[in-house]
Amino acid sequence: MATIGLFYGTDTGNTERTAKRIKELLEQAGNTVEMQEIYKKTKDDMAKYDLLVLGMPTWYDGELQGDWEAYIDEMKQIDFSGKKVAFFGLGDQYGYASYFCDALGVFAQIVEDNKGTLVGFWPVAGFEHDYSKAQRGDKFVGLCLDVDNQDNLTEERTQAWVKQILNEMGLSAVSA
Ligand SMILES: Cc1cc2nc3c(=O)[nH]c(=O)nc-3n(C[C@H](O)[C@H](O)[C@H](O)COP(=O)(O)O)c2cc1C
Repeated sequence: MATIGLFYGTDTGNTERTAKRIKELLEQAGNTVEMQEIYKKTKDDMAKYDLLVLGMPTWYDGELQGDWEAYIDEMKQIDFSGKKVAFFGLGDQYGYASYFCDALGVFAQIVEDNKGTLVGFWPVAGFEHDYSKAQRGDKFVGLCLDVDNQDNLTEERTQAWVKQILNEMGLSAVSA
């Protein structure tokens, strides 16, 4: 049982829908999830959690979603020591094959630069993008989802990833 801060930003609702499902799955495993839109949040709003799940789409050839872009300077001021942070991102691997889920790479780097621990790396196997700032070797730095082209896989990927982050956060994945 733990309290997890879940922050997301969205333009057309896909990331919000995914965030709600992740919240539900984390709660089914006995945790409390405080879910908030990143819009107009301060560094203290995020810094008060030791366990974080952060969700964001990538827009316009590798650009950050607007509310996350507005937050980036706040985030750079957070000391992530002792915090475990899991990222999930939404993207389109065919339409934007050279920028797939780029935003995850940008924000994951901030967490690492500020001494946080990333959890929830996800295999690139099963995706056909050309390049992603979120990719390190054969893994993404978080869960990438493509509801535009592979929505049939979204639920299965989300469930598996939530189990993985529960384990990596030291919380037991008791029920599915
Ligand atoms: C104009 C436009 C630009 C986009 N640019 C990217 C991109 O650079 N990289 C990417 O992975 N996805 C890109 N996408 C796909 C979106 O990230 C994807 O549709 C996502 O699910 C949107 O999430 P949201 O509904 O939470 O805003 C783009 C989509 C559109 C319509």
